[in-house]
Formats: sequence, structure tokens, C-alpha cells
Amino acid sequence: MDTLSILVISYAYIAGFVFLVGTIFFLARWIFKKKGPTGTYLGYPYLFTYPGQNSRLKALENILGRIFLFTSSSDDPFARYTSLVFHWSLWIVIAAHADIVLYPYFTAAGISESTLEAIGNYIGTTLAILMVGSGLILFGRRALNPYLRKISYLSDYFAILLIVAIGISGILMRFWLPGNFAYSEVSPFFLSLVSFAPISVPSDLIFVTHFTLTMTLLFYFPLSKLMHPFSFFTNPTLYTISHPGDVR
Ligand code: HEM
Ligand code: HEM
Repeated sequence: MDTLSILVISYAYIAGFVFLVGTIFFLARWIFKKKGPTGTYLGYPYLFTYPGQNSRLKALENILGRIFLFTSSSDDPFARYTSLVFHWSLWIVIAAHADIVLYPYFTAAGISESTLEAIGNYIGTTLAILMVGSGLILFGRRALNPYLRKISYLSDYFAILLIVAIGISGILMRFWLPGNFAYSEVSPFFLSLVSFAPISVPSDLIFVTHFTLTMTLLFYFPLSKLMHPFSFFTNPTLYTISHPGDVR
């Protein structure tokens, strides 16, 4: 195996380890930590008690609204909808990567590889452009607004730029590489990695860049605010009174 493959594969295993162990460790530590001046726990035992909630359905509606419609940013519609586009395109793009390993099942179900490639080329590229565009707008908003600049750390800029760079390398792959590259080259590589019998990394500079940046994202995830999807465990709706008609 060549030196580049050894480096990239070692990095991938380290990043995967840091991601899994780090995410579980920090999440567990945070859930079971005493919080606030009274030193109470906001851990699992209290999560589902809904003290003072008007109705559980209303509470659920509120939580789902915050997660999927970004209702907690209603005060600033521009930020809310830019973030909505950014997150939804990101989620769909990540989920759609499943085709890299699932394509044999799709072809067995009668969807040809060329159909899958065409869907990826049109829908995948469109979503990627939306993701990169909205990511750049969020970055610009943070960098140009004096108040936001003041409350931002370097790591806030890094996280968003990392995702934008992964998106750009993804788009370049769509234009640069043969349509079946993901199935013929990336799929066997990915499966070899997860079965702990790694083969050489596909020899394409853009793919190696995309993959290495993604591993950096995994590495960085538990060490940064990228852990925020898990913060819904402390959603105020779970602990406060929900007023009918109040969507925030
Ligand atoms: C259930 C999943 C998620 C929810 C509910 C969620 C929610 C949010 C919210 C409420 C914000 C802050 C406000 C805003 O920018 O509008 C935010 C920001 C952000 N999220 Fe997420 N997020 C989720 C998953 C992810 C994932 C998986 C990533 C990337 C790996 C991500 C990356 C980011 C980044 C980079 C920002 C900062 C954007 C900026 O600089 O303005 N999010 N997210
Ligand atoms: C192990 C992790 C990953 C692998 C092996 C991988 C591989 C690939 C490959 C081979 C493509 C080319 C398109 C194709 O022919 O199917 C691609 C495209 C893309 N990737 Fe990834 N990727 C990974 C993770 C990610 C992550 C975490 C993101 C988002 C933060 C991302 C964002 C994109 C985008 C935006 C595109 C272009 C549009 C599209 O094809 O959907 N990738 N990726």
C-alpha cells in the first residue's frame, strides 16, 4: 500500500474513533452533570416529565418545529430561512450518500446505475450548490455583522468553512469524475474501511481531499459546537409551560 493510503486510512480510523467515543463521552458527561446555581440535573430522568405543560402534543409540536423548521430563530427570518436551506440540504446530501453502499439494492429493485447517476448529477448537485451558497451566506453574516463578529470564535468560522469546503470538493467530483466512480472505486474502499480490512484509497486528488476534510469534520464534531444537534435534550419546551398559539 502507498504512503498516501496509509496516512489517509490511519487518519480515518483515528477520526472515526474520536467521533464515536468523543460524542458519547461528552454527551453522557453533559447529561449527567449538575447544572445551574441549584446544582440540579437536567438528565434523562427529568426529560419526559413535562412539568406544567399544557399538553404533550403541543410540546411535541413545539420541539419538532424548533428542530425541523428553526422556529427558535423566528425573530430573524433571514437567518432562519438561510439556516433552514443550509441544514436541509446538508441532511439530504449526507443521507443520499447511502447510495455509495446501497446501490446494489437499488439496481436489484430495477433502478439502473445510470438512473442513480442522473439523479445524483441533477438533484445532488443542486442541493450541494444550495448548501455551499447558504453556508457562505451564514459565514458572511457572521463575519460582516459587528455584533455577531464580536460573539463569534474562530471555531465558528472554521466549522462552517469546513462544511463549505467539503461541499465544493463534492461538486467538483460531480463534474470531474466518471459517473460511476462512487460505485466502482469509492464503494469498495468504504466497505473495506468499515470491515477493518482497508484497501488503497481511490487515487483521485479531489476525492482524497473530500474524504480527508470529512474525516476532519468527524474529528472536530465532538470537540466543538457541532455537537449542537444533541442540545434538543435541553430544549426549554421540555421544562417550561407551553402557551397555546406561541410557536417559539
Ligand atoms: C437535528 C439536527 C440539527 C439541528 C436541529 C440544528 C440546528 C441549528 C441551529 C438552531 C443553529 C443556530 C442558528 C442558525 O445558524 O440558524 C445551527 C447552526 C449551525 N449548524 Fe446545525 N443543526 C443540526 C445539525 C447540524 C449538523 C449535522 C451540522 C454539520 C455537521 C450542522 C452545522 C451547523 C453550523 C456550521 C451552524 C452555524 C451556522 C452559522 O455560522 O451561522 N448542524 N444549527
Ligand atoms: C465517508 C464519508 C464520505 C464519502 C466516502 C463521500 C464520497 C463522495 C463521493 C464519491 C461523491 C461524488 C458523487 C458521486 O459520484 O456519488 C460525493 C459528493 C458529495 N459529497 Fe460526499 N462523501 C462523504 C462525506 C460527505 C459529507 C459529511 C458531506 C457534507 C458535509 C458531503 C458532501 C458532499 C456533497 C455536497 C457532494 C456533491 C453533491 C452530491 O453528490 O450529493 N460528503 N461524496
